[in-house]
Amino acid sequence: MKGLLLAGGRGTRLRPITHTRAKQLVPVANTPILFYGIAHMAEAGITDVGVIVGETADEVRAAVGDGSRWGVDVTYLPQDEPLGLAHCIRVAAPFLADDDFVMYLGDNLLEHGLAGLVQGAARDEARGLRPAARILLCPVDDPQRFGVAELGPGGDVVRIVEKPSDPPSDLAVTGAYLFTEAVHDAVAAIVPSERGELEVADALQWLIDRGRGVAHEVLSGWWLDTGKKDSLLEANRRVLATLTPRCEGTVDAASRLDGCVVVGPGAEVVGSRVQGPVILGPGARVVDSRVGPSVAVGPGVLIEASTVEDSVLLDRVHLRGVPRLVESLIGPDSEVLRTGRTPRATRLLLGDDASVELP
Ligand code: DAU
Repeated sequence: MKGLLLAGGRGTRLRPITHTRAKQLVPVANTPILFYGIAHMAEAGITDVGVIVGETADEVRAAVGDGSRWGVDVTYLPQDEPLGLAHCIRVAAPFLADDDFVMYLGDNLLEHGLAGLVQGAARDEARGLRPAARILLCPVDDPQRFGVAELGPGGDVVRIVEKPSDPPSDLAVTGAYLFTEAVHDAVAAIVPSERGELEVADALQWLIDRGRGVAHEVLSGWWLDTGKKDSLLEANRRVLATLTPRCEGTVDAASRLDGCVVVGPGAEVVGSRVQGPVILGPGARVVDSRVGPSVAVGPGVLIEASTVEDSVLLDRVHLRGVPRLVESLIGPDSEVLRTGRTPRATRLLLGDDASVELP
């Protein structure tokens, strides 16, 4: 079994953060989302992993390296243009050869990783079945945003539609798929959709129409597509809640840590209250502040005389005198400072597609 991780494409929905970095490298609980996908592959015993890369290839290569950190062997597969998920399979065909493979979208996070897929496949095998594809479905409130599966009277998947305005069910197709070599015929046969992409939904439908078997599992754990700010913050909340407390930095006597708090190497908490779950990255400093719950503080961040809840602060962010910052995602090297300057006013230097809500 091989693995195919998708880390190309454009991150339009997380702009401006993704103007400067691959959306799959945006951190959740201080770890790039993509790394969870690689770890899940390794946990499932998949050691031969192809990674689709696009215009942010250099950044992805620099972060992931050769995969040895996870005990996997990474092969980079450049995709010239983001022409769709099924196009990724076409690009990867020489790497995949005739092997079965798991495809995992680099911006998706599944609570139980690939366990649902791998166990389902094992159950099928025990019954002598070998469907062309296996997908994981998850009931959602907003199926219009996803590929959606319709189940027939016998409980089998009979139709899959991509981002339908009138969804046939609330069952979204999550970003983890298991394919046999039969999928190569499907991706060779389909044509681009209205949005100009070769859709994996169309490839799955092609297989269903030819009776090649698309098995499914309804997920028991949570699943998030982190492509938007709100889902990224939710992923951050959920992953932070699974961490084990640890202190590799310093906390002074005037500070109090409650709940699960990870204090990274060289991080410092001074005269502050930290309400977990919170992670403080290496070298972060929290001074005279209240941080948490559900805050990921990146490396080198400085928080002074501020209150922050439910947020992700990327590397070297500086907050000073901010009374209550909530549900925020702040890009590297940004500053949010209260100053004594007159006339009293809000002064901003914002990048493209930034979003500011004033009380
Ligand atoms: O998140 C699950 C959904 O993912 C499914 O329900 C949909 O059926 C499926 O089409 C997909 O929809 P998205 O619109 O969310 O896909 P997105 O364009 O965000 O791409 C998913 C990942 O694949 C992302 O990490 C970028 C990467 N990608 C995407 C394209 C289109 C590539 O590497 N190459 C590409 O050509």
